[in-house]
Amino acid sequence: MIEISNLTKNYGDRKAIDSLNFTVKKGEVVGFLGPNGAGKTTTMKIITGFMAPTSGQVKVAGFDVFENPYEVKRRIGYLPETPPLYGDMVVTDFLEFVAKLKGVEDSRVNQLVARAVEKTQLGDVRHRLIQNLSKGYRQRVGLAQAIVSDPEILILDEPTVGLDPRQVAEIRTLLQELRGSHTIILSTHILPEVQATCERVIIINRGRIVAEDTLSGLSNRLRGGSYVQLRVRRNSSELAQALKAVGGVTSVEINGNNLKVHGTGTEELIEAVSELAVAKRAGLVELSHPEAGLEDIFIELTTQH
Ligand SMILES: Nc1ncnc2c1ncn2[C@@H]1O[C@H](COP(=O)(O)OP(=O)(O)OP(=O)(O)O)[C@@H](O)[C@H]1O
Ligand SMILES: [Mg+2]
Repeated sequence: MIEISNLTKNYGDRKAIDSLNFTVKKGEVVGFLGPNGAGKTTTMKIITGFMAPTSGQVKVAGFDVFENPYEVKRRIGYLPETPPLYGDMVVTDFLEFVAKLKGVEDSRVNQLVARAVEKTQLGDVRHRLIQNLSKGYRQRVGLAQAIVSDPEILILDEPTVGLDPRQVAEIRTLLQELRGSHTIILSTHILPEVQATCERVIIINRGRIVAEDTLSGLSNRLRGGSYVQLRVRRNSSELAQALKAVGGVTSVEINGNNLKVHGTGTEELIEAVSELAVAKRAGLVELSHPEAGLEDIFIELTTQH
């Protein structure tokens, strides 16, 4: 549905994105992650035809963004980083205006505006001027204008920024409703959000893709093998020393009575740790082996070594 090849954008002599290649299939929900300044917004602006790349190509539903901008734009709902809202318009008038601009037939406009208002919970403010709305409500209007024409593709640049926790949960539900029937790329810094909504993740750092995989694929790929966490009642430093000598253990971090043991092979680690804890009479009270979460992966992949 979306094909990106060798996409590069320079701002003067600063390279914002550097030869990006990726594709997004119909119906996929892809999380686009990366630290501040990585190039997420730049990529999204190019995909949606709001900015020209320095080189490379973007195809949406088979159409080249710059040869057939109309065909592309009418298929995409875009929530930019700073939504262009007309402050002196009333919410529903603005949404009607956007729907018509997107080529929605007159007979469907009212119904689609009502749907967008409902999905983004704008009912209470629908007759108010946009400029008088609070930040979170303006963000909802931005989201409503992205979905109002019921486009096949949604490109959402940090859709939940500035929203209260309840609204964040609503947006998550909305994205879950839209998945399957819509192709979605969303950028966010909220990692649990990605875990809840995205099947696949693309992580970029300094304008280049550093990972592109499913969440579980990324988790397996993380360097450093597995680790086991434990809490004991006493003799923690003695236990830590003994653990360092065990085969397969690569390092032991100690923080009071809490130990973090890194090594290879989770089950072997658990066995070694629990046996030693008993032998050293350390009073083992807790033992766990967390899977590498998205946060660990993100930090690992976007930190220069
Ligand atoms: N109009 C511009 N002129 C010059 N440099 C720019 C411009 N827009 C972006 N950049 C630079 O391009 C790089 C990528 O910026 P971009 O906004 O795409 O990052 P981002 O991943 O969206 O970051 P954030 O998480 O902070 O939104 C940054 O180094 C930024 O300073
Ligand atoms: Mg951005």
